[in-house]
Amino acid sequence: MLPDLPTEMESQRLILRRWKTSDLVPFAAMNADAKVMEFFPAPLTRPESDSLATRIQLHFDERGYGLWAVEIPRVTSFAGFIGLSTPRFEAHFTPCVEIGWRLAAEFWGHGYATEGARRVLQFAFQSLALPEVVSMTAAINQRSRRVMEKIGMTRTPQEDFDHPLVPQPHRLSRHVLYRSRRCLT
Ligand SMILES: CC(C)(COP(=O)(O)OP(=O)(O)OC[C@H]1O[C@@H](n2cnc3c(N)ncnc32)[C@H](O)[C@@H]1OP(=O)(O)O)[C@@H](O)C(=O)NCCC(=O)NCCS
Repeated sequence: MLPDLPTEMESQRLILRRWKTSDLVPFAAMNADAKVMEFFPAPLTRPESDSLATRIQLHFDERGYGLWAVEIPRVTSFAGFIGLSTPRFEAHFTPCVEIGWRLAAEFWGHGYATEGARRVLQFAFQSLALPEVVSMTAAINQRSRRVMEKIGMTRTPQEDFDHPLVPQPHRLSRHVLYRSRRCLT
């Protein structure tokens, strides 16, 4: 039985919501963009993008939370996703809950990722009462690391790791791990 969790959350400028069928076309366009996918092995084809959307929705069905679709009222009905996932590979920090984000490039540079990520961390600690949330990215992904740092996550360099799903040697294999712990005071 899933706890009684909200299906939608708001921050100052964003709505974080469950996915709609109409999200699939802009999601595929975002995932096909080489700029957005610079720090992933390759852009996604339409079937790969649809299959990722299905996995995201299954995660919501199973756990009641996940990678929320981001809507920006008066700007766009779909800007990308921000939310929580549970990595399926094994590493020194798994099992864990991970915070992550991917926005279409036209919506970068407005602070939307940071704003949405702060709201998601609040949900993770207050609604889910998680003791900790982690985030990881290719070490060379400075934009994403900057979001992690702005939302107060911290990295211990000794925890850097080679991602088990990226074949080595590869420019993306070295990953950084950031952590955020629930403040108990
Ligand atoms: C990672 C990603 C989400 C970051 O997006 P972003 O728009 O650069 O991130 P932010 O929301 O923090 O916004 C950044 C800039 O908006 C600017 N900004 C403009 N208006 C702002 C406002 N009202 N409030 C805050 N910042 C604002 C700031 O200058 C800020 O840059 P700075 O912190 O360096 O000064 C985006 O680059 C992305 O989707 N990348 C591809 C996918 C990816 O790599 N995901 C991570 C994989 S692990």
